[in-house]
Amino acid sequence: MPDLHLPVLLGEVVAHLSFAAPGLIVDATIGLGGHAQALLESCPGSTLLGLDRDPQAIANTRRRLSDFEDRITLVCSPFAELSTVLAATHSPRPMAVLADFGCSSLQLDSPERGFSFSRDGPLDMRMGDDGPTAADLVNDASAERLMRILWDYGEENRARAIVATILRRREEKALTTTGELSRLVAQVLGRRPGQKIHPATRTFQALRIAVNNELGQIENFVEPAVRSLAPGGRLAMISFHSLEDRIVKHTLRRLEGRAPTAPGPPGPPEKTTPLIRLVNRRPIRPTENEERRNPRSRSARLRVAQKLETPE
Ligand SMILES: C[S@@+](CC[C@H](N)C(=O)[O-])C[C@H]1O[C@@H](n2cnc3c(N)ncnc32)[C@H](O)[C@@H]1O
Repeated sequence: MPDLHLPVLLGEVVAHLSFAAPGLIVDATIGLGGHAQALLESCPGSTLLGLDRDPQAIANTRRRLSDFEDRITLVCSPFAELSTVLAATHSPRPMAVLADFGCSSLQLDSPERGFSFSRDGPLDMRMGDDGPTAADLVNDASAERLMRILWDYGEENRARAIVATILRRREEKALTTTGELSRLVAQVLGRRPGQKIHPATRTFQALRIAVNNELGQIENFVEPAVRSLAPGGRLAMISFHSLEDRIVKHTLRRLEGRAPTAPGPPGPPEKTTPLIRLVNRRPIRPTENEERRNPRSRSARLRVAQKLETPE
């Protein structure tokens, strides 16, 4: 199969998650299976449980990894359900868990999936095949909800103007395609000469995050993933924007037993028993060479935590 998605920070992920002792590796976002294949090759005695909420990703990866058929189990599931999947598959405690958040290039580049502002398709944006689409949100959500989505998830400071135009437009006719929405946003924002990013970039990112409840999924994943690990096992997570990375960083800090930095209730900060140590205190970034080869890697940040052998 051609390389439809170049795995990001591949060498760094393999270096941090390859254990000499065989065990279970979980790839919680198996996508096109690039990271999974490299991990299977570098850990010959290990087995791999792969999750993805996208049935197409599971089907493609099953074909790509057919040589490893007897070492892999693939399950179509959101990663927030990891504990349930581990129990249902009678899996042992994993030695390694990987999550490479966001969408695959295959999803982003397939117009029929509705993620792309530059190629026309249905206004869908669902990674799985259930739940409301982006068109449902754009045509039915209240003005307040749409404002919050664009503001909170897209950091779009012209949210008010975009939402006002959406509301006027949908009274005449529902918005049903990515082309309609991207033209509408471009009309509202205009395009400055030399501006590199498309004016609809932030709106599309915001809607995608909302449609897939991406941040809620991460909030419900990090701690259960750490708790599921075998003692000494590792969790590696790759984020692509600050909203994802913030959840990862704060949750790891708490599980490391450090006081929260966000303002909390008055009184001494809650003391928690450390469950992990951070393998890298600063996130690992792609090299310039990788950024050149794969522009999508530019915003990637890898954080790795190791479960303590005996939680203190
Ligand atoms: C960046 S791609 C992963 C690419 C993969 N590491 C590879 O090498 O091909 C992210 C994948 O995670 C999946 N995904 C995103 N959010 C998910 C969630 N909450 N639960 C399960 N899968 C999810 C997407 O469907 C997509 O296939």
